[in-house]
Amino acid sequence: MTKNAKKTGKKNTVTKRTIELITNGTVIDHIDPDAVFKIVRILRIDECDDQVTVGNNLKSKYFGRKGIIKVENVFLTEEDVNKVSVISPHVTMNIIKDYEVVKKFKSKLPPTVEGIIACNNPNCITNIEGIRTRFKVKADDPLALFCTYCERTMHREDIEVRHIRR
Ligand code: CTP
Ligand code: ZN
Repeated sequence: MTKNAKKTGKKNTVTKRTIELITNGTVIDHIDPDAVFKIVRILRIDECDDQVTVGNNLKSKYFGRKGIIKVENVFLTEEDVNKVSVISPHVTMNIIKDYEVVKKFKSKLPPTVEGIIACNNPNCITNIEGIRTRFKVKADDPLALFCTYCERTMHREDIEVRHIRR
């Protein structure tokens, strides 16, 4: 209770919004706290000129703690968000138009992952010659990624993020 509420005997009805709503754009929600800044890098949100809000270790209804990224006037594609599901499996993407959530979906693993993570085999040609990496997703839980160059299988704990090569 606040001082005022004590005086009047009324309940304090003030609610707190941690992060402001956006008008138009994309909200990437329910991000694993370890993955928030990796996603910023992978999707090149750090190069965005419009309003960007990044929150981390926020209280979540479902996961204990979560990260969130809000980007004004950027409409990420389903494919963009699927890319990040290798580093954070339960992300929700919301498209906002005129303050309303007009589209919402959960990320899902794509059949192949290209260019966003490094192969953990130091002798792989992708590391030696700096070639864009390419993995086949063999299983999603636990995650198994098959390097199409050196044929090594990587798991979630082996993943090291790389800048996207375009
Ligand atoms: N959001 C926003 N700006 C808006 C509308 C929504 O930033 N104009 C954000 C909300 O803050 C929330 C996310 O988009 O983080 C999804 O909004 P909504 O579907 O209304 O919230 P929930 O029902 O809590 O979503 P979920 O069930 O996916 O957790
Ligand atoms: Zn390899």
